[in-house]
Amino acid sequence: SKESTSKTEEQLQVGGVNALKLAANYGTPLIAYDVGAIKQQIQSFREAFIRAGIKYRIVYASKAFSSLAMYRLLANEGVGCDVVSGGELYAALRGGISPAMIEFHGNNKTPAELAEAISQGIGCIVVDNFYEIELLEKICEAQQRTVKVSLRVAPGIEAETHQYIATGQSNSKFGFDLDSGQAEQALKQLLHSKYLQVIGVHCHIGSQIFAIAGFQMAAAKMIDVLQRWQEKYAFEAQILNLGGGFGIKYITADQPLKPAEFVSAIITTVQQEAQKKHLQLPEIWIEPGRSLVGEAGTTLYTVGSTKTVPGICNFVAVDGGMGDNIRPALYGAQYSAYLAKNLQEKATQVATIVGKYCESGDVLVKQQKLPAVQAGDVLAITSTGAYGYSMASNYNRNGRPPVVFCESGHDKLVLKRETYADMLSLEVD
Ligand code: LLP
Repeated sequence: SKESTSKTEEQLQVGGVNALKLAANYGTPLIAYDVGAIKQQIQSFREAFIRAGIKYRIVYASKAFSSLAMYRLLANEGVGCDVVSGGELYAALRGGISPAMIEFHGNNKTPAELAEAISQGIGCIVVDNFYEIELLEKICEAQQRTVKVSLRVAPGIEAETHQYIATGQSNSKFGFDLDSGQAEQALKQLLHSKYLQVIGVHCHIGSQIFAIAGFQMAAAKMIDVLQRWQEKYAFEAQILNLGGGFGIKYITADQPLKPAEFVSAIITTVQQEAQKKHLQLPEIWIEPGRSLVGEAGTTLYTVGSTKTVPGICNFVAVDGGMGDNIRPALYGAQYSAYLAKNLQEKATQVATIVGKYCESGDVLVKQQKLPAVQAGDVLAITSTGAYGYSMASNYNRNGRPPVVFCESGHDKLVLKRETYADMLSLEVD
């Protein structure tokens, strides 16, 4: 969004670097991050916790955007991360995140992934299901190590978001269902375990959520269950992890709360409920992914062909598309495009911005007001920093775009463009 980019002489800037310069230097498509904007989001979350005077941890959800540069930034900021695969774990460790600051999520972690995580001394494994408890027992026994775990609960909350990214409801594939007593059963097992040390509970109701009510309901339900479990099992949770899912602004109509507003509202609920129930407040963890990196990212494309179907529509085709951003095709996600050379230029058309992939569904933006454009113009799509690169593919053998980090007028390449040779590097001939 324009918050993370600013205008000078009406040309688009990312992190103080002129977008046209970036496009010229690195070629397009290109993903540019405003590093200052990422740091600001982190700071905003942090301040909300500090103001409330409660212990907390920010655990970045790696899946939103995982790269060594990103992990280094997090490590410097004292932020932890969650990983959902051996691949993310490997990258996070290589990026300098200390194992103790890493959390492992997933509904079907493999034995090899769990063994690796435990031998690396991972900070916490978020246990998702009964099979995983069994696996962890065996692995810990074999390694003669203990591991900290938290219990992932499906709190039975339906978040208002796209069904593909809602996860809190009872029919979710993630976590132990709370209402049917499965979560309690799991807790009992964990409390009896010699190797698994249960440090708390976790829930995540979904992603790209705007309404605060769902978070508050989930938080209240978690406090309630912690209180019951304390009474019944003398279980004292050290942490309550409330997941991520804080919505961001993709288009003008999106008016999300600020990170600090989300967190403050949730904390208030947590504090009130805990006080009502005489529960000692555990450390609160959150797992923001999208809200740390989403608005900080901008994708630059070059316009190629354009086509007007009289009375029907105007197509503007760019040199990327669903390979670097699958979200419009997968979720019907909406974005806005800007003419990088002049943000003030008047719109003269309604254009549908399409990519270069061999699919009719390769549409980045449907029917948006746009100035006249011609081949060679740079178009910027904003708020592409989350789940863009991380879900990118080299479909049609288009290489993944490079990524640059921009801060205070300086730019730095952090991921190279995927070359034709890179794409053949796995071939056996
Ligand atoms: N914690 C857990 C357990 C999660 O499953 C997720 C996201 C997050 C945290 C981070 O959520 P965030 O703060 O980023 O909303 N590919 C989809 C989003 C999938 C999210 C999956 N889980 C998209 O592009 O919208």
